[in-house]
Amino acid sequence: MTMLKNTWYAAAWSDELVHGRPLGRRFLNEPVVMFRQADGTPVALSDLCPHRFAPLHRGKQVGDVIQCGYHGLEFGADGRCVRNPHGKGVPSGARVRRYPMVERYNLLWIWPGAGEPDDTLIPGEFAFLTESGRAHNRGYINANANYLLMLDNLMDVSHALYLHSGSLTTEDMRQNYEPKVGIEDGVTKLVINQYEVVPPPFWAAALPPGTERVDVRETSHGHMPSLVMHEMVYSQVGRPPYSEGGVSSRSAHLYTPETDGTTHYFYCLSRDFHRDDAEVHEKISAELHRIFTTEDVPMIEAQQRLIGDRDLMSMKPALIHTDKASVLMRRHLAGLIEKEKAAAGELAGANH
Ligand code: FES
Ligand SMILES: [Fe+2]
Repeated sequence: MTMLKNTWYAAAWSDELVHGRPLGRRFLNEPVVMFRQADGTPVALSDLCPHRFAPLHRGKQVGDVIQCGYHGLEFGADGRCVRNPHGKGVPSGARVRRYPMVERYNLLWIWPGAGEPDDTLIPGEFAFLTESGRAHNRGYINANANYLLMLDNLMDVSHALYLHSGSLTTEDMRQNYEPKVGIEDGVTKLVINQYEVVPPPFWAAALPPGTERVDVRETSHGHMPSLVMHEMVYSQVGRPPYSEGGVSSRSAHLYTPETDGTTHYFYCLSRDFHRDDAEVHEKISAELHRIFTTEDVPMIEAQQRLIGDRDLMSMKPALIHTDKASVLMRRHLAGLIEKEKAAAGELAGANH
């Protein structure tokens, strides 16, 4: 399984990390413990205590250090062992790896690679996640599927015409479905415009009463390796996007590889309608959770069970028109991973 290492992955929603409560999570097959220092700084360390390799997240945070719950060695935020409660000083070489971590857009981002972290690589497009002019429905799902199958899902949104028929789409929307796809500055972009269609129930509830037909623009931006911005814009027929009588949402779908076959899925739908309506908010939360946990994720997990350890592209899938964005994205990502591997190989060669 191949994954890009020198990049930022979503590790947790900001409010998941509370001072005094270490959080253990695996990223790219590596166990990581995260905790928040008293001044709010988030810290990510290897979760593997170097004494007997117990998980540090089962220990406790004492001030700004983490105390292993097994025999009590303590580690500072830089990963160094700072205290051995059994006397005779700190064992030599007792330290754990510290991973770069930054907090942005209500998320904690981890950099699993050995290269120099560059926080300009967190796409500014996700700034909507903290926009006060929107209401945000956030969630997290641990999925038993490889992150690329999850990414395919949002880069081929035609699945909504069938998998989410009757909630997110209407039969009417299956007509004149023409995705336009390209790569710009490394971002795979997909846009679909549809005109004078019957709005599906999820959106009909948001539109002004009596709206029978709408124009729809759907956009997905795939930022490598695992971040998708998905936008839906519903407009009154013949009116431009975001005009009066229309509604829209932006969503983040962030897929962080946990292991080769499992994914941390962070999602957030940020809407510009009924922003202060608590009842609507609850309904949307429940509906998103229902859709993802009973429609998308079970389908992708079932796909994964059949595919097993094989690489999807090596199985020579039958390609159809709507696959273009996911194929482009996979190809682009494979190129980045190859490049990263080649650079690591050169570095290893130079060090010999
Ligand atoms: S395993 Fe952590 S102190 Fe022993
Ligand atoms: Fe879906």
